[in-house]
Amino acid sequence: MRQEILPIPVRPWTLNGLSERMIVSHYENHYGDAVRALNAVSGELAAVDVGTPGYRLRALKRDELMALGAIELHELYFGNLGGEGNKIPEDMRATLEEHFGTVAAWRREFVGLAQSLAGGSGWVVLGWSRRQRRLYNYIADDDTQTGIDTAPVLVLDMYEHAYHIDFGANATAYVDAFMRNVDWAAVTRRIGAASADRPLPQDDPVDHSLPSLSVEELAARLAKGEPVQVLDARPRHHISRTVDLMQGAIWRDPDRVDEWIGELSTDEPVAVYCAYGFHVGCSVTRTLRERGFDARFIRGGVSAWYAAGGARSLRT
Ligand SMILES: [Fe+2]
Repeated sequence: MRQEILPIPVRPWTLNGLSERMIVSHYENHYGDAVRALNAVSGELAAVDVGTPGYRLRALKRDELMALGAIELHELYFGNLGGEGNKIPEDMRATLEEHFGTVAAWRREFVGLAQSLAGGSGWVVLGWSRRQRRLYNYIADDDTQTGIDTAPVLVLDMYEHAYHIDFGANATAYVDAFMRNVDWAAVTRRIGAASADRPLPQDDPVDHSLPSLSVEELAARLAKGEPVQVLDARPRHHISRTVDLMQGAIWRDPDRVDEWIGELSTDEPVAVYCAYGFHVGCSVTRTLRERGFDARFIRGGVSAWYAAGGARSLRT
């Protein structure tokens, strides 16, 4: 089964001191790379037979483990951003005090681990050990190492690609900014699930009240030559900052639907996307459906398309 790109769960333009450009580049390039790597390795593993040398099989299984770890950790990372990190809720404070003595002691160790990785690579993780029934801070190297039977509930990416666009080599400033943006509600939900021996909740930003399609479904339809009208509905202020579109798409101003709706064919389905799939694409999709079109929005928007390695074309 192919691994699909998940829509970015955090609204990347809302973060405090972490730029939209950096977060989106991280999502599209590094998270996307991990998903594409896992799909490539899975294909190679499917072709393994009795003649495959042991060293080759070992390398493939190591790459599979690293790609899978990178996918999971990046999804958890983006999913634990978007909050007011310096305002730790009372119940979370009590949890940290129970396991670390004081909130300050927890933070000192967590931030200290992050700073110890400055200039290097790795993840810092607050994890719930199901065996020990308690929280630990630890380092995960190579996207893989983790406590045995431990659920990661707060993860911090300390690979340089996570911060060099905004901070250069100043990892300390990045860690400060990360801590300001921690979504403690997400961490609380994860601890609640892990400590009750349930799977970690999946962050799902998708509006399920409307029909949608994934970027992989759209790519498959286009590859088969099925007729689809692909509509870029990013707001004018957003599109003015970019030079490319999803290949085959046309851009139309979402604020002027009445001016261009007559250009669309009612005989072919319409796939509508915006930047990340949070709002604008959905609202244009809703309008088109009200006017009788078979319209669906693209989950994760153009960012998910690029993360999946989708083709782009220059805006003219
Ligand atoms: Fe990363």
